[in-house]
Amino acid sequence: MPESNHQSFRERYGPTAIVAGASEGLGRSWAEAIAARGVNLILIARRADKLEATAEAIRGRHGVTVEAVSMDLGQPNLPAELGALLRAHDIGLGVYNACYSRIGPFLDVSQEDKLAMVDVNVRGPLLFAHVLAPHLVKRGQGGLVLMSSMSGFQGTAMVGTYAATKAFNTVLGETLWEELGRHGVDAMVCAAGATTTPNFLDETPEHRRAMARPLSSDEVVAEAIERLGHTPTVIPGFTNRLAQFVFGRLATRTAAIRFLSRTTRKMYS
Ligand SMILES: NC(=O)c1ccc[n+]([C@@H]2O[C@H](COP(=O)([O-])OP(=O)(O)OC[C@H]3O[C@@H](n4cnc5c(N)ncnc54)[C@H](OP(=O)(O)O)[C@@H]3O)[C@@H](O)[C@H]2O)c1
Repeated sequence: MPESNHQSFRERYGPTAIVAGASEGLGRSWAEAIAARGVNLILIARRADKLEATAEAIRGRHGVTVEAVSMDLGQPNLPAELGALLRAHDIGLGVYNACYSRIGPFLDVSQEDKLAMVDVNVRGPLLFAHVLAPHLVKRGQGGLVLMSSMSGFQGTAMVGTYAATKAFNTVLGETLWEELGRHGVDAMVCAAGATTTPNFLDETPEHRRAMARPLSSDEVVAEAIERLGHTPTVIPGFTNRLAQFVFGRLATRTAAIRFLSRTTRKMYS
């Protein structure tokens, strides 16, 4: 990418970005892509050693400052901790990436796991946006990305609670795109399809039959980051966009739910 594009990214979203859930997978790819554009980073995850290793690798590769903050995004005092980070840094971009997912039929997933999904995937991004948005609006520019999933576009067996939390992110992020856009702030939802991350189930023959080739986390982020400021929602990957067109526009809702539930059951049985 030309240096002038990096410079305009840095001017619009720098000097510092915060990535919540950043030590590996898609969060790490977001961190790398942002650092490659010359923006300093604050990275959040729970495992301090893994996070610091990621921070060190990014510092070495991109020459930006990277602060590693070990924190559980599902904890009750999240707003206070995020507020302290905002007071200490001039943050122009936030990416909420962390998630918790427990796969299984609704009847089999414990109450504790259901509420943990709500804490990390709903309460977390809601408070992240609640704390960050006024700060970005006051600056008159910046960006806010919520990681969502194609599973949030309709109900699907085995992943119901997780998918519902992702629907929350999609609707919230699209709303913020409209509301914050009026103040010069770019909000965006990234609705990823299957992506090879450490938490993605190992590929099985059922997997390969059930879905198109999953994208790498770098491929997802490379496409998404280019769309920031241009769209409320990005679905990285042509095949994913095609699937969303078929299931979201051409198929009836009943057919989409039944087909995707059958596929997901096969995949995870
Ligand atoms: N992978 C896919 O196929 C896929 C598909 C569609 C959408 N997505 C979405 O993309 C995002 C990232 O997916 P992923 O597979 O890369 O996720 P992941 O591996 O589950 O987690 C990514 C990062 O979040 C951190 N994290 C998790 N829970 C946390 C918590 N409570 N507090 C602080 N940090 C936490 C993890 O580090 P620690 O464990 O050290 O905290 C890790 O660095 C998610 O929002 C997911 O819904 C993924």
